[in-house]
Amino acid sequence: MSQTLCNGSGKKQVRVWVDGCFDMVHFGHANLIRQAKLLGDYLIVGVHSDEEITKHKGPPVFNQEERYRMVRAIKWVDEIVEGAPYCTTIETLDKYNCDFVCHGDDISVTADGSDAYQEVKDAGRYREVSRTQGVSTTDIVGRMLLVTKSHHKREGEDLPDKERVHQIQKDASGHSPWTGVSQFLATTKRIVQFSGGREAKPTDKVIYVAGAFDCFHIGHLTFLEKAATYGDYVIVGLHTDTEVNRYCGSNYPIMNLHERVLSVLACRHVDEVVIGAPYTVSRDIMAHFKVNLVIHGNSKVYADSVGGDPYAEPKKQEKFRLIGTESTLNTAGLVQRIIEHRQLYEARNLKKEKKELAVYEATRQDQGFKAV
Ligand code: CTP
Ligand code: C5P
Repeated sequence: MSQTLCNGSGKKQVRVWVDGCFDMVHFGHANLIRQAKLLGDYLIVGVHSDEEITKHKGPPVFNQEERYRMVRAIKWVDEIVEGAPYCTTIETLDKYNCDFVCHGDDISVTADGSDAYQEVKDAGRYREVSRTQGVSTTDIVGRMLLVTKSHHKREGEDLPDKERVHQIQKDASGHSPWTGVSQFLATTKRIVQFSGGREAKPTDKVIYVAGAFDCFHIGHLTFLEKAATYGDYVIVGLHTDTEVNRYCGSNYPIMNLHERVLSVLACRHVDEVVIGAPYTVSRDIMAHFKVNLVIHGNSKVYADSVGGDPYAEPKKQEKFRLIGTESTLNTAGLVQRIIEHRQLYEARNLKKEKKELAVYEATRQDQGFKAV
């Protein structure tokens, strides 16, 4: 390694490398990044270019500029490397002075079906952390395309028969253990891990924003970046699934409340989240959180369930501001992008799963298991 850096206590700084596509960044990615940061002092995330992803997996939904910005906004990231190579080599680790690479415990296969981390594994410079169960880009796209509402239900709750049959069929159909669909279980431990835990100081100017923040995307990030410049402490009030469904209809929200909490908490511009905020920003909310300014962005403001303005109170207190941002993307627009890419996506996932399954079966055989 070319240079020895020290951490605050004078010991050698441990530098960790993580890489990936980070297409449609979700809280599974954020959790990987969080765990990787815990393994060292400084975390560098290499994000692959559009060209590289297209070659190995198929075209991404988000372009590289969007993906770079989304990863940079995750609060445990110290630095990103744009256009990182798909295969992680010792040369790359040395170039960025990193001790090892950290990856989830799924397999990452290149276009020719080989393990993208073989070289660093052989050199003992590979660490694995648990992949977050129940969330993947494939799963999110599946929810969008299938227009089901099963993601609104928690484990053990009844699903309509049609959706239950669909789930069972999916579970029994020999999917890759990594790319397939499973259920995410939210725990308080995970929420605590994601929370920064910082309290607002009495002198802090408190900003309150409310919304669905469904499938946290570049439009949300652009809005939060700008909203954060109006104060010192940002609170996001997340509406319940029932409320979001009332004003968005169809099968929205795509991500349920607990999933949305984690995605928003992972953003470096957010200090606190209200889990299931009332739709109307009342006098109580303003007083409880000592809110100095309520901000709303580009999107339409829907009336509350009795036809009222949800921002009437902050407007009365002259603590309300509408801000324009340069991004017009909303969750419906995101779903539209995916529908337009649908065939490419299906082909991409089939190919990805086939390669993963081949490696999975080969590993099982190596370990003496007979494939069933
Ligand atoms: N990752 C994870 N938990 C998830 C999803 C991803 O820990 N639920 C990790 C992967 O193991 C990898 C990193 O995030 O270390 C980047 O993954 P990426 O290359 O973007 O691919 P996936 O997210 O795995 O792709 P897909 O969701 O389409 O399967
Ligand atoms: O639509 P949603 O409720 O998720 O939006 C949350 C907040 O982000 C709202 O204030 C909305 O106006 C803002 N936003 C934005 N620009 C976008 C998407 C959302 O300003 N492209």
